[in-house]
Amino acid sequence: MTVSSAPGKVYLFGEHAVVYGEPAVPCAVERRAAVTVEARDDDRIRVEASDLSLDGFTVEYGGTADRRPDVDVPASLLDAATGYIDAAVEQARDAADAPDAGFDVTIESDIPLGAGLGSSAAVVVAGIDAATRELGVELEKTELADRAYRAEYEVQDGEASRADTFCSTMGGAVRIEGDDCRRIDTPNLPFVVGFDGGAGDTGELVAGVRALREEYGFAADTVENIGDIVRRGETLLSAADPGADPTEDLLTELGRLMNFDHGLLEALGVSSRTLDNMVWAAREAGAHGAKLTGAGGGGCIVALDDTRETETALRYTAECENAFRAELDREGVRVEE
Ligand code: MEV
Repeated sequence: MTVSSAPGKVYLFGEHAVVYGEPAVPCAVERRAAVTVEARDDDRIRVEASDLSLDGFTVEYGGTADRRPDVDVPASLLDAATGYIDAAVEQARDAADAPDAGFDVTIESDIPLGAGLGSSAAVVVAGIDAATRELGVELEKTELADRAYRAEYEVQDGEASRADTFCSTMGGAVRIEGDDCRRIDTPNLPFVVGFDGGAGDTGELVAGVRALREEYGFAADTVENIGDIVRRGETLLSAADPGADPTEDLLTELGRLMNFDHGLLEALGVSSRTLDNMVWAAREAGAHGAKLTGAGGGGCIVALDDTRETETALRYTAECENAFRAELDREGVRVEE
């Protein structure tokens, strides 16, 4: 039996625009998905997802069998859990040259599903890592990130960048521009996350931005302007002291850029009333800046605040179901003993 875990992430800047080759800076945060994998002596897959829905479920299937979970589970949730696990299992089988390997898989995640914190990337990264190790193969992190990207790309019908999977694999803050992915140094950024209890459909939201870009030339400019914000933010980060507490000036400037980024994402149609209300609650509480994180449509916002004020204010905001501080995770995927 092997257990691997991988972190979720927030986007400091650049979601959606990254799909069109603009740079983005996602940052891994200390919220993890743990995937336990045990090899079977047949080629079947059994998935137990204990934290992905309120009640959890178990489903066992072979290649063509019906997927009937043990309790009533919304089809979207079942597809999400089994789809990403199937894609992770395929990558592990391929990496270990074991096309008929079967597994019992248990997912335990404290990352809300589809809420912009990279839950699916974390499950795929941890799943491939645990399944390959269970088959006696230890992948380099760059290969793991690449395989996780391919798995997510397949499940999301080609609507995925390398950002979420690379960030979850490597940990820390990363910079993504097309196929060029690397870690970058940052100071200790004081993230606060607000969660509205909902989720967005990444594939649909990405397709919505694509349609807008095709219809209106200026929507393509909006996407490029997000890239300009990211480049400006990177320059600020590279001049800062890595691993130290950020200066007030840096937080003010980064916060301003986050606010700008949120405005452009709103213009691209990927925000929502609840996300906007949480963003405003954070700003009014004194956050340096706040924006949606991830695909949008519902889910999470991220704010920069080195006091407790934003977290408290979000907790008292009607649209916010949960608010928490999120430390930068510098480790990425790891094996759990
Ligand atoms: C989703 O977490 C981030 C998007 O930019 C899609 C992607 O990068 O794959 C919206």
